[in-house]
This record gives sequence, C-alpha cells and structure tokens, in this order.
Amino acid sequence: GVDGSERLHKQRLLVVANRLPVSAVRKGEDSWQLEMSVGGLVSALLGVKEFDARWIGWAGVNVPDEIGQKALTTALAEKRCIPVFLDEDIVHQYYNGYCNNMLWPLFHYLGLPQEDRLATTRSFQSQFDAYKKANQMFADVVNKHYKEGDVVWCHDYHLMFLPKCLKEYNSKMKVGWFLHTPFPSSEIHRMLPSRSELLRSVLAADLVGFHTYDYARHFVSACTRILGLEGTPEGVEDQGKLTRVAAFPIGIDSERFIRALELPQVQDHIKELKERFAGRKVMLGVDRLDMIKGIPQKILAFEEFLEENPEWRDKVVLLQIAVPTRTDVPEYQKLTSQVHEIVGRINGRFGTLTAVPIHHLDRSLDFHALCALYAVTDVALVTSLRDGMNLVSYEFVACQASKKGVLILSEFAGAAQSLGAGAILVNPWNISEVASSIGYALNMPADEREKRHNHNFRHVTTHTSQEWAATFVRCSLELNDTIVEAQLR
Ligand code: G6P
Repeated sequence: GVDGSERLHKQRLLVVANRLPVSAVRKGEDSWQLEMSVGGLVSALLGVKEFDARWIGWAGVNVPDEIGQKALTTALAEKRCIPVFLDEDIVHQYYNGYCNNMLWPLFHYLGLPQEDRLATTRSFQSQFDAYKKANQMFADVVNKHYKEGDVVWCHDYHLMFLPKCLKEYNSKMKVGWFLHTPFPSSEIHRMLPSRSELLRSVLAADLVGFHTYDYARHFVSACTRILGLEGTPEGVEDQGKLTRVAAFPIGIDSERFIRALELPQVQDHIKELKERFAGRKVMLGVDRLDMIKGIPQKILAFEEFLEENPEWRDKVVLLQIAVPTRTDVPEYQKLTSQVHEIVGRINGRFGTLTAVPIHHLDRSLDFHALCALYAVTDVALVTSLRDGMNLVSYEFVACQASKKGVLILSEFAGAAQSLGAGAILVNPWNISEVASSIGYALNMPADEREKRHNHNFRHVTTHTSQEWAATFVRCSLELNDTIVEAQLR
C-alpha cells in the first residue's frame, strides 16, 4: 500500500477563505496587479505546501464587468487561486456589516452594535441574509471545482454557513471548518440573534477546529446549551451523527523568516536600522489597525512608562506599524483618529527637536523590511484585548535567534497558551501593569532573556503552519476512513 505521507502528498485540497492570499489591484480594463494579503490566516496558509491545494476566495475588489472578471480569473489561476466575485452591496452587508461589525467584535468580547436597537434589528436581518447569500456563492464555486476525494477546508467566521451549503450539494464531501478567532463563552455567543442557525450550519462539517482547547470547549457548550445537543469527548452528537471538535493550534512557516534574515539585502537593512537607532532600545508593535489589538492601551502604557522613568526618555523608541484594515467600517475609522490623537499628544509631550518617542506608521511593510525590523527589536509588545492566536508574536520570536529580545504578550491572545512560559504575560487592560512590564523587559539580564527566548524559539520552530495543516487534513481523512470502513462492514 501507499504510505501515509505519500498519500498526504497527493491529497487534493480546496482551501476556502473569504480572503485569498493575494489581493488584486486593477491596472487597466484587463490587467491586474496581485499583492500579498495581510492577516494571520493568510500568513499561516502560505506555509501549506504539502498538498495539491487550490484556493477559493474573494480577491478584495469589486469587478462588475465580464472582461475584468475573465482577466482576473486568468491572473489568479497562476497562483492556484479561484475568485468568488461579490458585488458592492453584498460586500457592504456581508463583509463590512455582518462579518466585521457583528461577528468579529462579538467573538472578541467587544459586544454587539448598540445604536438604535430597532434599526439594528432590521439591518441585522438583511445583513444576515446577505451573509447567507455570500456563503451560498462560495459554495457554488467550490461545487464547480470539487472532485471526488477532495478535502474541502473552510476558514473563519465569514464562512460559518458554508459547511451546510456544501453538504446540501453533496453529503459525501469531506468538509472541515476552522475558526481563526476566539470562539467566545456560550454566554457571549447566545447574544447573537442568529446563534442557533450558525451553530447548526457549522455542525454540518465533519471536523471543526479551533486554536485552543478553551475555544473548542466554548463551542461545545454553546451547542449543548443553545441547541440542547449532547457534547462528547470527541465533539458534538446530533441524532447519531458526530461532528468531531478539536484544537489545532496554528503556527507560522518559521523557516521562511529564518532564511530571509540571511539575505544580503535584509542584512543591509538590519545594519541601517541599527545605525539609525544607535544608543536607543527598540520596542516594536505590528498590528492590523483593529480594536482587538489594544493599540491605544499599549501606547498609553508606553506613555506611563516614560512618565515614571525619565531616565529612559531618550534611550528608547516605540515603532508601531499599524496596517490599515476594513477601512469602510466606521468603528475602524474612529480607531484610526483615536490612535493618531494619542500618538500626537505623546510625541508633543516627550519629543525633542531631533527625536520622537513613537514612530507610528499607517501602512504595511514588505516582508524583508519586516524581518529586519523584528531582528533589531529589543522588546516586542503584543497587547491584544482578545486574539485568536496572534502570529506576530511567533514571527518576532522566529527572527530573534541572535538578539534574544523580550516578548510582552497579552494573556488574552491564544499565543499566551503556547509562548506563555517564555513571554512576559500581561493584562492589556491594566495599563500600569503593562508599563511596569516594559521596565522589567528593558532591564532584563541576558541570561534570563536567553532562557525565555530559547523556550519560545523551540516552540515556534516545531509547531509550524505545515504541521498545523497536515494535522488538520490528516484528521479529516481519518474520520472519513472510519466512515468508509463502517459502510463496508
Ligand atoms: C484576521 C481574520 C482573517 C482575515 C484577516 C485580515 O486574521 O481571522 O480571516 O483575513 O484578519 O482581515 P481582512 O478583513 O482584511 O481579511
């Protein structure tokens, strides 16, 4: 027989996510430029190489015309990507509305929108309808490209309705669903008007995965409390059908970062940065500009640190890379002005004619510049209010083999469960605690830094995105084998 690894190698995989790993920018009637997308989901999925994989998702642009759609489909095919075209109204109601104004804040414990309740209820219904419609459109594309034996792997909160749509097309399709955000306590989930329908459609999958055991447990108890189903050690049972539920902690392609650091252009960049910040310790934040990342709280903690430690004022700099995201959602616009205001105030307060304490960038950096920045950092600040995993913390650790800098990490990020022993864990809401952790990190002796770094480095380089994907896909295949065996008997 064929051994397991060989079989895995040939396994066809359809990866379905709202966002494709590349986003398209229109250059002409039939010409497109493809750029790498940002976010934890994409950064992990880039490491998924051992399968015969195709990607199905939204390219991030509205393409109303047939010529444009055809040209984009061809351009994406080279990257093994297949587009789902969503019109402006759907994007507005499904992506900006239901996904990013309802599910995203709720799953991160930031509650539901609280404006005029009647208006919200009404728009809620049309947003949920658009959500279901969009999921059906993804299902149509999957169905068109599906071949018998494929594993279909659905990703994230955008596509909770997809497993059900797919099983309606073909009940034999192997369907997995993985959530990249936290799954909140059932007490939070039950606030959602569509709580039951969403749970039921996720349960149509064969395998349901989360980053941590806690999220998996929350999901199972939502199913028992809200749907009255039975939770078993394997998952959730509904009328004799078992949906397997388990934790699959994600990772990064650590080799990609380690290799990049050896490139001459990255080495040059590291040298430049070292000269630029000579005599100062470098602190770094890299986040999408999102409420869940706790950026205002982080900057306020830095201010408190400078206030209480005047001797550090000209010896430390905070570089905050804030990548714009979901800029059509009002909450994100508000956050941008709030962060700008705080940064401006602190730089006005502690800056001199030649230096400012905070460098704030409203844009992403290219991969090599980012690696160089990680490598010269003394202290990284990851202070998310909630975060499914947070892979920035992993990327930082991967780039710190020579410097062995310190990671300050929120206890509310999934990564706290894997990097907790090496990082300094903080409650991001407790600004004084974060401020004193900054002092502790900046003053940490080399042997303690080394011990902490080694612990985290070992984890990051062994729990990779390749491992994560292989484990998830293997698990969905094994489930299927069990079913086939049962049918044969
Ligand atoms: C998070 C989500 C991803 C999403 C990413 C970027 O990591 O879990 O599903 O792709 O943010 O957000 P965006 O809305 O730009 O896709």
